[in-house]
Amino acid sequence: MSRSTSSAGHDEAVLIAAAWEARRQAHAPYSGFSVGAVVQARSGKLYTGCNIENASFGLTVCAERVALFKALSEGERQFQAVVIATDATTPTPPCGACRQVLWEFCGDVRIISAGPQGKTAEWSLAALLPAAFDDRNLAAATPSSPEPD
Ligand code: THU
Repeated sequence: MSRSTSSAGHDEAVLIAAAWEARRQAHAPYSGFSVGAVVQARSGKLYTGCNIENASFGLTVCAERVALFKALSEGERQFQAVVIATDATTPTPPCGACRQVLWEFCGDVRIISAGPQGKTAEWSLAALLPAAFDDRNLAAATPSSPEPD
């Protein structure tokens, strides 16, 4: 089996194993869809997350954002990979909201998704979120511009 090793020294299999482990803590009684995630910071540290649902469904937080916010709250600002684990036969990509939040802090980061039986998929975030909206769009606003006629 060929394995790739990231520059921070974590074997990809280690990242995926950590995402599976994180999934064990998922609170997903409403959807039944448990998700684990890992964010790998450039410091080398791994931050894990799981989805946390709520009876008020819209308050649910995805595994990716839990992992990212844990990392951010510990002072991390540079990231090199995001890993997702679900039991879906088609490896799960991050939802649209997570793509936007990941873009804000990770830019064009590598995203790996693992499913059952060792199945994996990989994308760049830029491929999943083309023409992303970010601070550059805000900076492009015209100051005090009048409403167009
Ligand atoms: N979910 C995640 O945690 N991450 C994803 O990438 C996709 C969706 C969660 C949200 C909700 O708890 C459940 O999966 C079903 O949408």
